Amino acid sequence: MIEPVRYQKKLEGKSNAHLITFSDGNDYVVKYFQPGFEKSLSNEWVAYGLARFLELPIPYARIVDIPEEFSSSVPELAGFENCKYQFASLYKPNCLDGHQVLDVTNLTNDSVQLAGIILFDHWICNNDRTRKNILLYEDDPNSHRLWIIDHAEVFGTYNWALPDLENLSTNLLKSATHQIMTLFIEEEDSFAQQLESIQTIPVLLMEEIVDLIPDEWNVSKEEKKAMVSTLIRRRKKVLPDLMEKFIKKIYHPLKSYD
Ligand SMILES: Nc1ncnc2c1ncn2[C@@H]1O[C@H](COP(=O)(O)OP(=O)(O)OP(=O)(O)O)[C@@H](O)[C@H]1O
Ligand SMILES: [Mg+2]
Repeated sequence: MIEPVRYQKKLEGKSNAHLITFSDGNDYVVKYFQPGFEKSLSNEWVAYGLARFLELPIPYARIVDIPEEFSSSVPELAGFENCKYQFASLYKPNCLDGHQVLDVTNLTNDSVQLAGIILFDHWICNNDRTRKNILLYEDDPNSHRLWIIDHAEVFGTYNWALPDLENLSTNLLKSATHQIMTLFIEEEDSFAQQLESIQTIPVLLMEEIVDLIPDEWNVSKEEKKAMVSTLIRRRKKVLPDLMEKFIKKIYHPLKSYD
């Protein structure tokens, strides 16, 4: 298990995210469990596990154990000393967000990855794929590699309760970021390929990811079960229809301007 060695700074945003150096020599963005945002960390963890399996461009992440002595020695962490387990995402230096790059002229991610992000967000109901929740790394002049971050609001929101999972939106998401990605999806077939990848993720894997949620994050057994059954239901009953709609209403119109 890696240990925190140096506190760097608090990061922008409402998520209580802090930049901390760990004993492996790397900096991580650590999101602290906080009242009012009860499902943030479990959402992050489940989204990370699934995205990683799908080979989407998500920074490496892990659940870290922060000793009470560390948190109590940092004024910015006052009040959070009692939370041991937090979600940590490997810090990607030298990136800009989607607001800071005014004109994305090329993305080096392949079409299957970009289509995968769009389907993934619709599958897991991520309402928050804003321009701030992507990172863009300049690979070459005028060419960026896109990473996805901030999955605190999958399953509709950062503080969902059991009945909410039954009523997740079945509409297309409104995301300017999805539209930017769409411009660089060359093959329409990338969507169908990713649908198949999502539909064939082993149920056992989904259960294992959910089972690793620390007890401290207060996700009940019923809620864990419901997360998995929601994912199974949506990948079969909701996602194929949303994929068709996305291709017809967003992909085709945008690509015809090429
Ligand atoms: N892995 C990462 N590498 C580099 N920077 C990151 C990484 N993860 C997060 N950040 C930075 O930290 C900021 C906060 O992270 P994040 O978007 O996950 O939470 P938030 O913005 O506080 O949540 P919300 O969008 O719900 O307000 C991001 O806007 C981004 O600038
Ligand atoms: Mg954010």
